[in-house]
Amino acid sequence: MKTSWRQLLGEIEACNKCPLRAGCKNVVPGEGYPLADIMLIGEGPGQEEDRTGRPFVGPAGELLTKMVHGIGMERTELYICNVVKCRPPGNRTPTPEEAEACKPFLRAQFALVRPKIILLLGTTAGRATIDPGYRVTRDRGKWIYRKGVWMMGTYHPSALLRDETLKRPAWDDFRELRRKLREIQSAGEE
Ligand code: URA
Repeated sequence: MKTSWRQLLGEIEACNKCPLRAGCKNVVPGEGYPLADIMLIGEGPGQEEDRTGRPFVGPAGELLTKMVHGIGMERTELYICNVVKCRPPGNRTPTPEEAEACKPFLRAQFALVRPKIILLLGTTAGRATIDPGYRVTRDRGKWIYRKGVWMMGTYHPSALLRDETLKRPAWDDFRELRRKLREIQSAGEE
């Protein structure tokens, strides 16, 4: 039987399948519209996310929110989560083992939300979801259709904060996301 949201949140809270839970203040399961057409997947909580228990609320989150607004959407229309639900110490990249340990939660979120589109933010999200050999610089902006879902990667907003030149291609990807959503929605109306 499919896990319920309540059960899933309880399981995330109680999890100690990897060392990250012992080092974080709060788990950050995800938030947004539980039946969203678009799911955004980041890497893992940072300091502010760990403090509040909410995804993408620190500096990278502020930029992400601006980009969501820039394509005429609100965060509340999307479902936003991360590959790992607990903050890696010092914001390091989660190890493949940590990402793997957390994967059943991501799968359960996917099964509950049933998005039409997944936008992967950065290399870690692409590796956990599309292919272990995924590289954001090479593979971003390309659609993959798998198990009834369109998936595309783009730069992680933290990368845009470090390197301004990545902003333009990231905006192109966000506009493409919006276009794809319209295309899917209008096909559904026919
Ligand atoms: N970076 C992420 O990947 N996720 C967050 O929630 C915040 C920053």
